[in-house]
Amino acid sequence: MRLIFMAGKGGVGKSVCSAATGIWSSQQGKETLVFSMDPAHSLSDIFDIEIGSKPDKIGEHLYAYEPDLNEESKNFFKRYKNMITALFGLFEAEVKPEDFASMPGISELIFMDKLNDIYVEKKYDLVVIDSAPTAMVLPLLQLPSITTGFVSRILGMRNKWIGLLNMLEAGFGDAILGEIRGMRIKSETMRNAIIDPKTSAITVVTIPEKAAVMESQRLIEIVESHGVLVGSIVINHVMRECDCQFCMRKVTSQISYIDDLKNKYANKRIAILDDFGAEVKGDSLQRVAQDLYGSGQLTI
Ligand SMILES: Nc1ncnc2c1ncn2[C@@H]1O[C@H](COP(=O)(O)OP(=O)(O)OP(=O)(O)O)[C@@H](O)[C@H]1O
Ligand SMILES: [Mg+2]
Repeated sequence: MRLIFMAGKGGVGKSVCSAATGIWSSQQGKETLVFSMDPAHSLSDIFDIEIGSKPDKIGEHLYAYEPDLNEESKNFFKRYKNMITALFGLFEAEVKPEDFASMPGISELIFMDKLNDIYVEKKYDLVVIDSAPTAMVLPLLQLPSITTGFVSRILGMRNKWIGLLNMLEAGFGDAILGEIRGMRIKSETMRNAIIDPKTSAITVVTIPEKAAVMESQRLIEIVESHGVLVGSIVINHVMRECDCQFCMRKVTSQISYIDDLKNKYANKRIAILDDFGAEVKGDSLQRVAQDLYGSGQLTI
């Protein structure tokens, strides 16, 4: 099973590229899942089809999945009930499953848990991950060290505290340890999958404008500092030559950013995606798939 993460700044075309990648991959006969890791899902709109909160078959060899964060947070809460109760108990705070999903960092944990379920199930040849603008890959990379640190500390206190917790309620301390260990195994499994270039690839989507190019450079630096290679960059919304002043100015400015990216990242595949002049959804995704993969700019 391979994983392709589409990462990048908000609104640059990550979801469109994820959907088009899914379409292309499924047309090559690969069992493909397009998985939304963005709490503000947009795959239903882009595929122009209703996608459920379980992986839905939406075409031949093609599945799409937009986990329902509220529903999944309840499942997550159940799975890690003891750990969560103990953690919030430390701060004398009460937490309800329905409030849980909106807490900072929790959506990343829940999506990591879901992605792990999909990864270990090994049902698909390719999973395309449509990330949230904040690049969901970073929390995925950082989670193992956070949970490992947490586990070490808990294990360090084991003799002192676990016995006490077990006394509060029989098996409570051991249940917490079991849940933390389970979470650590999952986050390590996903981290190992992401840093293995045979398993994972990260494609950064950007547009030829200053703020987007700079943010992409920062993203690539951070991701690569974690030992994960960004193999491809998609430069989206590229304008073609036209006689009007407005387009000519825009084209000239775009060319300089495209050249900068090509010079800086000569070791990566760089794909150019034209601005279509209209929203991309439904049938027009086929053209994006053709431009990105059919033309040989990118490979799966
Ligand atoms: N090449 C293109 N030509 C014209 N419109 C495009 C192109 N690529 C994307 N769009 C449009 O731009 C908008 C944003 O695209 P998309 O939702 O894929 O971006 P995103 O990076 O996933 O955004 P977000 O960060 O909000 O998740 C959509 O309306 C989409 O139809
Ligand atoms: Mg999106």
